[in-house]
Amino acid sequence: MQDSTPSQSTATSSPGTQPPLSTEVDHCPIRRFDHIEFYVGNAKQSAKFYEHCFGFETVAYRGLETGSRDTASHVLQQGDIRLVLTSAIHSSHPVSQHVMRHGDGAGVIGLEVPDAAAAFRNTVERGAEGAMEPTASEDSDGALVESAIKIYGDTVLKFVERENYGGTYAPGFVARSGRTNGEGGVGLLAIDHIVGNVDLGEMNRWVDFFADTLGFSQLVHFDDEAISTEYSALMSKVMQDGSGKIKFPINEPAEGKRKSQIEEYLEYYEGPGVQHIACATENIIQTVTELQSRGIEFLSVPTSYYEELEGRVGKIDEPTDKLAELGILVDRDDDGYLLQIFSQPVEDRPTVFYEVIERHGARGFGEGNFKALFEAIEREQDARGNL
Ligand code: FE2
Repeated sequence: MQDSTPSQSTATSSPGTQPPLSTEVDHCPIRRFDHIEFYVGNAKQSAKFYEHCFGFETVAYRGLETGSRDTASHVLQQGDIRLVLTSAIHSSHPVSQHVMRHGDGAGVIGLEVPDAAAAFRNTVERGAEGAMEPTASEDSDGALVESAIKIYGDTVLKFVERENYGGTYAPGFVARSGRTNGEGGVGLLAIDHIVGNVDLGEMNRWVDFFADTLGFSQLVHFDDEAISTEYSALMSKVMQDGSGKIKFPINEPAEGKRKSQIEEYLEYYEGPGVQHIACATENIIQTVTELQSRGIEFLSVPTSYYEELEGRVGKIDEPTDKLAELGILVDRDDDGYLLQIFSQPVEDRPTVFYEVIERHGARGFGEGNFKALFEAIEREQDARGNL
């Protein structure tokens, strides 16, 4: 099980409960996730992977042909999800160094805000370290303002102000349209949450950082006892903005008998960073069927997971045999249930992966699945006489 948010609920966790609404003025209002930018070794080829396997469409491009002398970026879209894939053209460029150290990984999380200069000023005043001063750029479609602060590892949180910009993505990019392969999307609609892994003992520092600088509040907390199994343990807290649209779970490893999934990530990513991106769909069976047919590999789930499914999560609309066939997991909290599945890492290093999630009211993150999955695996071990 590679997701890092799962656990059992305990006295210290309250999955699905909303934090008390703050009476303070939101000093850093956020409209939505604007984009996530991956720094990759070969953006041209990565773009084909996301088009063919994940159903994205390339909508904009910047590179040597458009006068960009240092980097090439391909912008892909599906539903409200925008991915930017960037490669450097020279070895000395910081993007090359990011890729050298981390492998392909998320360099930038972009948030759309009404005022990028104010977002920068207000977060830096509250202790954030600036990564890019407010910078305006313009073309015939208008002006775009961006600024950025540093978050965990070498990851940057970028504020994007699109108030006065009507172009496809940003000045300097040329629009590209049409899927070259004639394939449609797979039903991915929006980013549900973006998870970060941080070093042992650092989770609370980052929780405080998001609270202090961005005014986020804590949605849920899973402690190591709740999340630990025989093999692996982690701690996780979920921070969200005032609107509840932006959710950043933050994980740190905890001591287990074997190396935890978080430790493995930190070792291979060579530091903290984005672990997984959860994309929402309204028909997970259709989406996952399509993704699998296009070659996306998911974590396999032992059939025993489904044997006691209804006893664990109650009645659901989807047929259990179909969920079992595809390996889709189910969890329930006070507000409803959710369906989710985790991909294998999408690069050779065991680092970044994707989650597909369909919510039926539930506001949790699949915390019940961690224990259920491991118990299912242990039952199979037991059946083989190996437990
Ligand atoms: Fe997740």
